[in-house]
Order: sequence, then C-alpha cells, then structure tokens
Amino acid sequence: METIDWKNLGFGYMKTDYNIRAYFRNGKWEEPTLTQDETITMSMAAAGLHYGQECFEGLKAFRGKDGKVRIFRVDENARRMIRTAEYTCMAPPPLELFVEMVKEAVRKNERFVPPYGTGASLYIRPLLFGTGIQIGVKPADEYLLIVFVMPVGPYYKEGFKPIRVIVDRKHDRAAPRGTGHVKVGGNYAASLLSGEKGKYKGYPSVLYLDACEKKYIDECGAANFFAIRAGSYITPDSPSVLPSITNMSLRQLAQDMGLKVENRKVPLDEVPTFEEVGCCGTAAVISPIGSIYDPETEETYTFGDEPGPWSVKLYEALRGIQSGDLPDPHGWVTVL
Ligand code: PLP
Ligand code: COI
Repeated sequence: METIDWKNLGFGYMKTDYNIRAYFRNGKWEEPTLTQDETITMSMAAAGLHYGQECFEGLKAFRGKDGKVRIFRVDENARRMIRTAEYTCMAPPPLELFVEMVKEAVRKNERFVPPYGTGASLYIRPLLFGTGIQIGVKPADEYLLIVFVMPVGPYYKEGFKPIRVIVDRKHDRAAPRGTGHVKVGGNYAASLLSGEKGKYKGYPSVLYLDACEKKYIDECGAANFFAIRAGSYITPDSPSVLPSITNMSLRQLAQDMGLKVENRKVPLDEVPTFEEVGCCGTAAVISPIGSIYDPETEETYTFGDEPGPWSVKLYEALRGIQSGDLPDPHGWVTVL
C-alpha cells in the first residue's frame, strides 16, 4: 500500500479503493453496486449537466483510540440530502439507502480512515444528480447517487488557528427564496468568483451578508458563522444559510456547557461587540476568525491570533465525541 503522510494531509481528492453507486430508474431506486471506476458514463444531455439538478453532502468518519471507526451524524446528512432533492425536484434517496451506502463506502475503504491522533479524518462525499436526458427545462426521470471517500486534513491551512475574513458586498451566494438553504452545486458556483477574489486579497474566507438589505450576517464561505458574547452562543437565522449539522451540534454542546443559544438575525453592526467569532462546518470543523475586514467602511475588527476559550472548549467537545474520546450523550455517532 502507498504510504500516506496522515499528519500532513490537506483537504483534497485522493483515489481510494471503492465507490458505491445506486441508480433511480423507472420510478424506483435500484440496488447499490460497488466499483473501482472513478469515472461516470452518461449522456451529454443529462439534466444534471444542464439545469443544475445536482447536489452533494459532506460528512466524516473518525478512528478512535479503540481502533473503531465512528461516522458523525449520518442520518442528518441523509435528511438534508432528501430536503435538497425534494426542493430541486430530484428523486430523494430513502434515508436507509443513504445511510447504508455511506457505511458500505467507509467499510470498503477502511484502510483509508486515518489513524487516531493524526488530526486527519475520512471525508465522505455523497453526490446526487440527474442522469436522465432532458433538454426541455423539466426534472430528469433518472438519477445517480454516488458515495466516495478520501482521507483529509484541515480545510484551511491555518487548521485551528484564526483565519482572516473579508466581508463581500458585491456578490451573493444565495437569495432568501432561492437555494441557499439546500446543498446544490449551483450555490458553490455562485460563490467561486467571490472566494477567488477574497483569496487574491489574502483572505481564506468570505463573509456573506443577507442579499436583501446587506445588513445581517449570512455565512462564511462554505461554513456557518457563530459568535460568543457574554455567555451566549450567537448564530444567524437566515433563509439563505445552509443549516449546518456542525452548527446544530455546537448549539447543543453550547447549551450543555451552560451558554445561552441565540439563533437569530445577526447584524454586521454587532461584530465589534463579540468576544469570539468563528466559522463551523464538516470540513472547517471550528475555524476561529482572527479578523473581519469590511471594505466598505475600511474597518478591521480583530479577535486575536489564538482561538478564544469558548471556541477551544466547543472544539474539544465536538472532536472528543467524534473520535470516541468523550461519551456521546446525544447519540450522534454510528460505530461501524
Ligand atoms: N454552509 C455551507 C455553505 C457549506 O457548504 C457547509 C458545508 O457543508 C456548511 C455551511 C457546514 O455544514 P455542515 O456542518 O453540515 O458540514
Ligand atoms: C463541508 O464542510 O462538507 C463542505 O461542504 C464544505 C466544502 C468542502 C464544500
């Protein structure tokens, strides 16, 4: 077997042994099949290529000290893919099919689950799209669900060190009654130019504001936003934010730790009053935010070069449950 430098993995594609696929054809889901093929053969007229009938999920599996593999909140990712599929008129995969395919993809690639203590994990990418031929703007009649996996390290090279963020007032990744609340590829296409401009200026992530008033915080690149102030965990409630499973978990952990949880509109004006800010997601885990630059006011709000105490506590609680170092009181992990 090729040697993998587990401690220095970035966040990127790596070929693993198998992926697992299931077609929806003739009105029903077929039995999933395992393959070593990394490519897909389909019609150039497939609806997924033309009209954006495509969505994905992202979740992780972790190796514990006990050698066991734990998958984090797979049922929540299944539910979110079902919601996304319904919203974009795709065939929603049954929850049990999704969960079974994820488990099988991890089992068959178990040698790629990074060892305990390396900080790396196995990233699981379920992908659903319309393979049915469709040239009129209509939903496809055939879909493919694929689950593939790869070992990954930190999403931002900074790891658990604070990142610099820039407010974007020129682009919106999603609109209030659009697709921001579901995980379609089109949302990421809409964010690419903004993200590239941000990186060019030296900011690994971009803070999006609400598309209507440009007054409230939406989210931060491909992650949700949270802040800590005076014993509260504060996170935006917005129709154009993707409901993050990490954020949902952090809200619960924050409450367990005695913090008050405020899930509400968060005006950008409030930023100077926050004690800690960060972004959170499967890939980002918790990425503390060290500074936020607003190009309109030319103001920079700084939060320090080290993660704040609540961010550290939340990070340790989440990672502890994921790896099995801490008890799992909410039943979030599936032990393989
Ligand atoms: N927001 C966006 C736009 C994302 O792409 C992601 C990543 O999945 C998140 C938030 C975080 O969601 P989760 O914690 O479920 O990974
Ligand atoms: C995730 O955190 O799983 C994401 O979807 C972020 C990004 C890699 C798209």
